Amino acid sequence: MALLAPSILSADLSILSQQIRLVEISGADWIHCDIMDGHFVPNITFGPVVVKAANKSTKLPLDVHLMIENPDKYLEDFVNAGADSITVHQEEVIHLDRTINRIKELGAKAGVAINPSTPVSTITEIAEIVDLILIMSVNPGFGGQSFINNSLKKVKQAATLRKEVRGKFLVEIDGGISNKNIKSALDAGCDVFVVGSSIFKEKNISAATAELANMIK
Ligand code: DX5
Ligand code: ZN
Repeated sequence: MALLAPSILSADLSILSQQIRLVEISGADWIHCDIMDGHFVPNITFGPVVVKAANKSTKLPLDVHLMIENPDKYLEDFVNAGADSITVHQEEVIHLDRTINRIKELGAKAGVAINPSTPVSTITEIAEIVDLILIMSVNPGFGGQSFINNSLKKVKQAATLRKEVRGKFLVEIDGGISNKNIKSALDAGCDVFVVGSSIFKEKNISAATAELANMIK
């Protein structure tokens, strides 16, 4: 089953609970939290304090995407803040197998993200043990960027990899997803769809959420 994961990066943080509740009742399945540190990516967002606030606002699972240096140092903090899944970047983590296992030990689902320029082949050896593979369809750092078409090929490769290793992971896509391309991502084999600006920057957040949720059902 396909899942819609609105990213609160594009939400109005001054009314965060309200906006989370709105997407929750309109068809969201997960809440995606984009954590940026100004080092791994050229932007700074928020940390565990805001994740904790999001957790208080919803019963939906919190999907935490760490675009930070040295993520190992903060795994526990994010799990304590309420993260249900934690995704780290292949490009940042040297001992990926160790980090994946640590996330699982802490009781969260473990994901690995790859940037647009990183091949799917770089995660073959850990595919069997991960719960999520996140294909970045923009260069991470900002909401509202244009979708990179080559990502669809990588979604297909990830879906093939799952068959090959008899893996159980979900394939997630993140960046530039809208009502114009969500269907092609679904057809390529995507399971989880992160959407930031095409939900939270819309005039009618509820209608935008419901439309996208319907398009993947
Ligand atoms: C990009 C983030 C995405 C982003 C998605 O660095 O990881 O989650 O917020 O936002 P849109 O849908 O606006 O591209
Ligand atoms: Zn993200």
